[in-house]
Amino acid sequence: MRFIWAANWKLNKSPKESLVAINELLEQVPKNLHSQVLVFPQNFSVGVLASLLSKTSMTWGAQNIHPENEGAFTGENSPKILKEMGATHVLIGHSERRHLFAEANEFLARKVSSAQKEMLIPVLCIGETLEERESNKTKSVLEEQLKIGLQFCDFQKPVIIAYEPVWAIGTGKVAMPEQVLEAHAFIRNYLKEMTQQDFAEKTPILYGGSVKADNAEILSKVANVNGFLVGGASLQAETFNQIIQASL
Ligand code: PGA
Repeated sequence: MRFIWAANWKLNKSPKESLVAINELLEQVPKNLHSQVLVFPQNFSVGVLASLLSKTSMTWGAQNIHPENEGAFTGENSPKILKEMGATHVLIGHSERRHLFAEANEFLARKVSSAQKEMLIPVLCIGETLEERESNKTKSVLEEQLKIGLQFCDFQKPVIIAYEPVWAIGTGKVAMPEQVLEAHAFIRNYLKEMTQQDFAEKTPILYGGSVKADNAEILSKVANVNGFLVGGASLQAETFNQIIQASL
């Protein structure tokens, strides 16, 4: 499985700034790795980015979608429109969506299904809070997020899982390799039990949460880590490229 580096820019970078950043990224990241790089820009930057990236092998996705393609859903993103604009992927259930915007597993399950219907690859983000980890609930939380989040999933189509412990996102507190090893093994095994072997083996499991150039190498070598979802350190092309170089 080819390693994936995904940049989650969150609510950062104007269209102008995105254009600068993407040009820097295209320049700095070796061309043979472009197809393994995935950028999630802020919505208003999608237009400029889409037309530039359509001429490259780098791809982009949206940070969120609504389950419906159209209708009276003020402020929402349509999976169908995103597809038309050239998106290939969509983040679903990022911890900020779950915690700041109260998105529940059942709602996220509908988004996974809608994304797949439009041939977008859902990146289902899962992860436990510090409190859940400390009260020994990590596995049950992950299991619930997978079980409900993937309940309408078409296992004939691709999906990506991103394991992002909530306590490691944007905090500088990266998970220990042993913690990542355990969580990713749990996810892989759960996918094997839930679906056919083939789907479980083919599904990339990304790690996210304070990935930086100095921890990327060790984390990239952990079994079942098939890529990174990077927030803060993806905002500068240079630091993102350092992560890529460190995890080759
Ligand atoms: P971080 O964010 O790399 O800044 O911790 C990761 C994410 O939110 O996907």
